[in-house]
Amino acid sequence: MQHKVPAGLSHKEAEIYRHLDPEKLPKHIAIIMDGNGRWARRRHLPRVAGHRAGVAAVRSTVETAARIGIHALTLYAFSEENWKKRPRSEVDFLMRLLGRYLRAELPTLNANNIRLEYIGRQHELPQDVQERMQWAREATGRNTGMVLTLALNYSARSELVDAFRSMLLTASKNGGIEHLRIDEDTVCNHLYTRYLPDPDLVVRTSGEMRLSNFLLWQLAYAEIYVTPTLWPDFRGMHLLEALAEYQKRERRYGGLNGDGHAHEQPVVAHK
Ligand code: FPP
Repeated sequence: MQHKVPAGLSHKEAEIYRHLDPEKLPKHIAIIMDGNGRWARRRHLPRVAGHRAGVAAVRSTVETAARIGIHALTLYAFSEENWKKRPRSEVDFLMRLLGRYLRAELPTLNANNIRLEYIGRQHELPQDVQERMQWAREATGRNTGMVLTLALNYSARSELVDAFRSMLLTASKNGGIEHLRIDEDTVCNHLYTRYLPDPDLVVRTSGEMRLSNFLLWQLAYAEIYVTPTLWPDFRGMHLLEALAEYQKRERRYGGLNGDGHAHEQPVVAHK
């Protein structure tokens, strides 16, 4: 395969990219960033040092995804469970880190034409963090390239509960719930992710084989790629390795081949 390597890729990234088919890249990639704590423990550092190091991984992954023309990247930064079950000091640290990330990365996001979005129950986050988030979203709102969505205080089950509530509320405002008709499109239009296509690929770092309450509806047909690399060690190069593996897979969507249609005659046709 010979095709143009996008500007800005490192030598190693370019090597992997050359073997990819640019026509068959996933449109939307979702990532469960995991392993910050273990990364820190292996170095006898406090857990928060792992989160701090995780920011470099976010930067590299976001830039590489944007450079190769991925339409949407969604990062699971902070689950609703994290919020409730981690020590207050760690949660506070993560909130400050997010605030600093948003301020520091804004020029890079704009330079890469990236639009920032969020999913999760934002209204439960500290007021100053919400304000910084809104500021960053507005400051990137006119960008037309990749949509970077940060899942913050996110839970897929809460998202579904919120979607059901939103469907009922909308119906009650539009003639009453007796007229409510629910199908898959209705549900999709009430999810936090209504502006996004479903992810084609979900990546999880640090070797765990779980979805951990992440995009449960939207990942129905996604390819799952798990790498033992801990999140702070993850870079754009590792994302490209995930894409190489993705392109080897045959996507079926419940059918018999990649486009969801059987090439061979179905058994019944031979009768
Ligand atoms: C999981 O590692 C990671 C998190 C809960 C936080 C993710 C945050 C970052 C990557 C840094 C900042 C992100 C942004 C968007 C600015 P863990 O602590 O669960 O690791 P462990 O399973 O090894 O303990």
